[in-house]
Order: sequence, then C-alpha cells, then structure tokens
Amino acid sequence: MSDAASTSVPVIETRALRKVYAEGSEAEVIALQGVDMRVDRGEFVAIMGPSGSGKSTLMNLIGCLDTPTSGTYHCDGVDVSTLDREELAALRRDKIGFVFQGFNLLPRMSAEDNVAMPLGYAQVPPAERSRLAIEALEAVGLGGRTSHRPSELSGGQQQRVAIARALINQPPILLADEPTGALDSKTGEEILALFKRLRDDGHTVILITHDAEVAAHADRTYVMRDGEMHEEGGEA
Ligand SMILES: Nc1ncnc2c1ncn2[C@@H]1O[C@H](COP(=O)(O)OP(=O)(O)OP(=O)(O)O)[C@@H](O)[C@H]1O
Ligand SMILES: [Mg+2]
Repeated sequence: MSDAASTSVPVIETRALRKVYAEGSEAEVIALQGVDMRVDRGEFVAIMGPSGSGKSTLMNLIGCLDTPTSGTYHCDGVDVSTLDREELAALRRDKIGFVFQGFNLLPRMSAEDNVAMPLGYAQVPPAERSRLAIEALEAVGLGGRTSHRPSELSGGQQQRVAIARALINQPPILLADEPTGALDSKTGEEILALFKRLRDDGHTVILITHDAEVAAHADRTYVMRDGEMHEEGGEA
C-alpha cells in the first residue's frame, strides 16, 4: 500500500478541467468547462446529471483513457500529463478499475477470461489468473457462469462481469459508469452493497448514475450540468 505521507493527498484532484471535442470545427462540442473535483481516499462519490452533460467524458479523463483540452488532473498526487504512455498504462493497471457504460466485454471470451483480462499475461500464471477471476465472479454472484460468453448472459449478468473485471486487480480507485442501470433493483442493491464494502475497505468509488435513489447511497453527490460540475448541498 502507500506511504503515510500520501494519505493527505486527494486520490483525485482536477483543476479547471476542460474538454472540447472537434475544437474549431462546426461540430465543436464543449463537453467539460472548468471542472474542479476533489475526492479523498475511501470516499464513495456519485455523479449525476442529464444525458450529454459530460459525465462519461469526465470519467474517461479520470480513468486516463483520454486527455483534457486544458486544466490539470492529479491522480494520487501525480500530474498525469507528465507521464509517458507506459507510465500511464501502469497507472491505469495498478490504480484504476473501470466499469464502462455498456460493459465493453469481449464477445468471444468466457466470463472468466473477460474478468482475467486486466491481470496481464506476463505477470500472472494461468492457474492464478483463473483462481482470481473465479473469485471475482463469485463476489458478484456469478460463480455458476464462469464459462459463459457474454451473449449467453443476461444484461444484468454482463454488467456484473464488467464489475468483476474492474475489481480483479483490487484497484484503489473504482470508476463505474451507470453500473446499476441495467440491473433489477435487487441486483442493483447487491452491487451497491459491494461498493460500500469496497469503500469501507479503503477503496475510492466514483459512480455515475441517473438514479437519485442510487446516488443517495454515496457519501457525496456531484451534479453535472452542461459540462459544469456542482456539488449537491453546495450553492445550487
Ligand atoms: N468522441 C466524441 N466526439 C464528439 N463529441 C462527443 C464525443 N463524446 C461525447 N461527445 C459529446 O460531448 C457531450 C458530453 O458527452 P458524455 O458522453 O460525456 O455525456 P454523458 O453525461 O455521459 O451522457 P449520458 O448520460 O447520455 O451517458 C455530448 O454532447 C456528446 O455528444
Ligand atoms: Mg455517459
């Protein structure tokens, strides 16, 4: 784990983060305009906001899958703009678990192999990969579906495979984009309980949701509107 000095450093800190798609063209979209966000270790934070308000764009930046047009992002005290491709890949692998909106599962692979993906082939021997993947699937209630392919699973089950994959490396930061959107309320509750357990174990969880009832489980809620972020309970 990390040294004592890092406990006071926010896990996620963005300053004046801006993202403009197709800048200067007719199709220009200002997706984020000056987002300041600070999340400490062990917090469970929800992000709400209407469709198109910039939630996934922000999540992609926090997950180091995309780069901002301007502004800064420090992940665990590191300015990610200073990292080269390999360092960025290592940061993603070691620190961040990502549950994508729409799962992103590989159709030709079994649930077990999908979940084992982030482990990397070089670092982890096959038997260990398998053990960890099955454990992660069991944690989301899918121990009986390890050899099923995504097309042989229900929507909610595919979503849970995506969550198991995000958790396989025990990442300190879990980013989840609408992870309960396709789930029935009972399964959704189980996933939320899982996120709370992770939070209680010291993980940081950031959850995008349209559902105010889901957001109510978080410690804090941010609301995005037209690319701007406001903290709920702050000035509205
Ligand atoms: N790759 C892209 N190129 C151009 N415009 C984009 C791109 N990705 C997103 N946008 C635009 O940026 C804005 C923010 O999109 P984003 O996906 O962040 O919204 P969202 O809040 O996640 O919405 P939803 O709730 O529907 O998932 C939208 O107007 C969208 O059309
Ligand atoms: Mg989205």
